[in-house]
Amino acid sequence: VIGIVGGSGDFGQGLAGRLRAHGEEVLIGSRTPRGEFVSNAEACDRSDIIFFSVPPASIEGMARDLQFHLAGKIVVSVATSVVFRDGRPVAEAGPLSLAELVARAAPDARVVSGFHTVSAKTFAEVDRRLDEDVLLCGDDPEAKARVSELGEMVVEGRAVDAGPLVVSRWLETITAVLLNVNRRYHAHAGIRITGLP
Ligand SMILES: NC(=O)c1ccc[n+]([C@@H]2O[C@H](COP(=O)([O-])OP(=O)(O)OC[C@H]3O[C@@H](n4cnc5c(N)ncnc54)[C@H](OP(=O)(O)O)[C@@H]3O)[C@@H](O)[C@H]2O)c1
Repeated sequence: VIGIVGGSGDFGQGLAGRLRAHGEEVLIGSRTPRGEFVSNAEACDRSDIIFFSVPPASIEGMARDLQFHLAGKIVVSVATSVVFRDGRPVAEAGPLSLAELVARAAPDARVVSGFHTVSAKTFAEVDRRLDEDVLLCGDDPEAKARVSELGEMVVEGRAVDAGPLVVSRWLETITAVLLNVNRRYHAHAGIRITGLP
């Protein structure tokens, strides 16, 4: 089972729809359980892979609150460090990435960081082909391999291993570049890595 903390947002909804289309069982977590949404804690308890799809400012606190529900589980941080300044997207990377903050707040979780370059808008259009890769990083090779399998279900491209969790500091900022590209071209751009074997 795959849980999505904050799965009621655009990104979580798109991810859930795409994973379900491939036969995966998905539980959507919310702060206000209703209808098909369960509590975030229940989504964690009943899942073995948990996507953290909440706004960047709340991700560390959420990981701390849920830390005992996350022990031993694979946790995927998709949060980007983009903020809007005078209406323009900019990336403000702190000394630690958001994914590293999650790993610090939930020390027994197996944290993988990724999917930052997938636009929530195109993700949510579940029937639209996503001609792009997902970039992942993390310190647990087995967890990364499992999340790569899910990544390759939801995009047409491949899951590219960008290295250890520390790389998340730079991955989380790429979204600001893409948002500026999108503004220039009125698009929802993604990324393909070329030249790989
Ligand atoms: N937007 C993009 O194109 C994009 C691309 C790549 C990655 N991301 C990342 O994906 C994540 C989710 O994006 P999104 O656009 O789906 O976000 P969002 O709609 O702003 O938030 C997702 C969910 O988080 C919960 N939430 C909101 N405020 C919260 C708070 N203060 N504390 C705890 N939970 C809160 C809400 O669910 P409940 O009210 O049901 O609890 C909300 O539906 C973000 O971290 C973002 O950086 C976004």
